[in-house]
Amino acid sequence: MSVAKVLTVGMLVAGIALVGWIWLRKGEGLVPLPAQMAAPGRAAGFLRPHDAALVALGRQIYARACANCHGVNLEGQAGWRTNPRLAPAHDASGHTWHHPDALLLQVVRAGTMGKGGAMPGFGDVLSEREILAVLSYIKSRWPERIREAHDAINARAAGSG
Ligand code: HEC
Repeated sequence: MSVAKVLTVGMLVAGIALVGWIWLRKGEGLVPLPAQMAAPGRAAGFLRPHDAALVALGRQIYARACANCHGVNLEGQAGWRTNPRLAPAHDASGHTWHHPDALLLQVVRAGTMGKGGAMPGFGDVLSEREILAVLSYIKSRWPERIREAHDAINARAAGSG
């Protein structure tokens, strides 16, 4: 093998090793650890009920895409408590706040029709930001104590992986 060839191969191997090392190091910072998400002083989860611009966008989307089933005031369809085919309330009286963010996002993306439910999926109609916005709007309407209870549910969900 010529000196030039040995050098070329050597540099190639070193280059691949360096790229691999950088990639691994980057990964350490990119993966959001559950412990970080649940860090004190930082609400766990994805929704941003205190982001006024996002909540304003979510209010519009809710009125356009959700209110006809879930009610203009998040009160749900009359009779929802006894009939699971009817859209449940999203206010404090419903069970939306019993679920962590990841599950709520997934229900709005995929709906529940594939599992025999009656909630249509919005993954093809709304962007991820719009889905985040509409759920942030819903959370912004909950009383403080319900928002705190929901933060705790998110923290527990993050903690259990
Ligand atoms: C066609 C009527 C309809 C529309 C429109 C609709 N939903 Fe639903 N939604 C339902 C029904 C029915 C359920 C209960 C589904 C089930 O239990 O399988 C449901 C369930 C949900 C749940 C789960 C609630 C829980 O406590 O488990 C969320 C979250 C939700 N909807 C959000 C939305 C959002 C956000 C929109 C607007 C982007 C929307 N829905 C539009 C009918 C609708």
